Amino acid sequence: MILVTCPREIPPILAREIEALGYTVSAMHAAGVEVDAPYEAVYHLNLWLRTAHRVLWRLGNFRAATPVEMYEGVANIPWEDWIPADGYLSVISSIHTEAIDNTQFANQKCKDAIVDRLREKRGQRPDAGPRTDRSVVFLYWHDSTCMLYVDTSGTPLSERGYRKHPGKAPLRETLAAAILLSTKWQGAGHVVNPMCGSGTLGIEAALIARNIAPGTIRQNFGLLHLLPTDVDAWNKLRSQARKQSHMRLPEGMEILCTDHDRRVIDHARENARGAGVGRDVKFDVCDFRETRIPRLSKNPSGHDIIILNPEYGLRLGVESELEETYEAIGDLFKRGATGYTGYVFTGNLNLAKKVGLRSSRRQVFWTADIECRLLEYEVYEGSRREPESDSPADPGEDHPATHPAS
Ligand SMILES: C[S@@+](CC[C@H](N)C(=O)[O-])C[C@H]1O[C@@H](n2cnc3c(N)ncnc32)[C@H](O)[C@@H]1O
Repeated sequence: MILVTCPREIPPILAREIEALGYTVSAMHAAGVEVDAPYEAVYHLNLWLRTAHRVLWRLGNFRAATPVEMYEGVANIPWEDWIPADGYLSVISSIHTEAIDNTQFANQKCKDAIVDRLREKRGQRPDAGPRTDRSVVFLYWHDSTCMLYVDTSGTPLSERGYRKHPGKAPLRETLAAAILLSTKWQGAGHVVNPMCGSGTLGIEAALIARNIAPGTIRQNFGLLHLLPTDVDAWNKLRSQARKQSHMRLPEGMEILCTDHDRRVIDHARENARGAGVGRDVKFDVCDFRETRIPRLSKNPSGHDIIILNPEYGLRLGVESELEETYEAIGDLFKRGATGYTGYVFTGNLNLAKKVGLRSSRRQVFWTADIECRLLEYEVYEGSRREPESDSPADPGEDHPATHPAS
């Protein structure tokens, strides 16, 4: 069984991606999606999924009320069929049980069980340590349920490998993709991203628009350090994926990223080159109020969007200083973006009210432990500023992206 993990609220978006690849989603959890498919499907999933963090393959499922029972359960799994004798192994985990209060100890005990079994079966044991760039085992132990997985991604898929310069408060690549996949833009139409920082939204938009599989950007995956992987089949799928990408963006489409910090733009440009989309994303140094907004695209299937991820005043900047910025975003939408759909992604709902326009939709996302919103604004001739009040600028219900935890 395959479990694909992701942050809270993203499972419905991830499930749509998985189904579009032709697989059956058998269950959705608060932070992951189960897929009913053979092992070989992990190649395809690692290559193509844009919103997933890890693709895990389950090897064991047993009950354990004590560390000794956990050790025995782990030692019963045929690790000699999975981990190379001369390999390197790390154990990561999600632990929520009264049986143990020390995650490090649980990981150590799990690793001992694997290594002891391998030494007994083969007379040789792999090295072990914290690096997640080789064979990675994931231990899930909640209450008395233990599940053991091999992590076929290894380094999480949110680290695509193109971002050499993350900058300040960057969006994770997978979250940026999830945000874009939640907007009305569906791969055609302009994407304008003032305050672009490291350029993540623009780069992910280019990857989607050109049908570039994110897994073709980096070289290393956990699956390459697992014995059942057919490396020839993996390489073949990778070159097929490369052939499926389009040479350029759809006709007439622009992706435009701006930031007022020249150094940030230099770094974003380098990141875009690293992702292979250096020619597709246009960068400019300017205040966000001065961003050039292209004429509406003529492509009938295109939907033009302008999207901003301003500072929240929590980690960077100070809330009161940012009020004027959020007000100016509302002005920018009204003044220059008629016909576009505007989006603001923020972790500060007080500041979001300062945009002053009525949002047509609000979607919840999480970055680390900050609850964020993607706010959508239809910008039409005569969009009106909302009077300010203590209640949110729009009283509409939030639209969670997911069902409650299952
Ligand atoms: C939260 S960061 C954006 C992070 C970005 N989404 C990423 O993934 O890297 C906000 C960015 O807004 C830029 N910024 C702040 N005030 C600005 C202004 N007045 N005009 C243009 N850019 C501004 C900052 O330089 C910073 O790069």
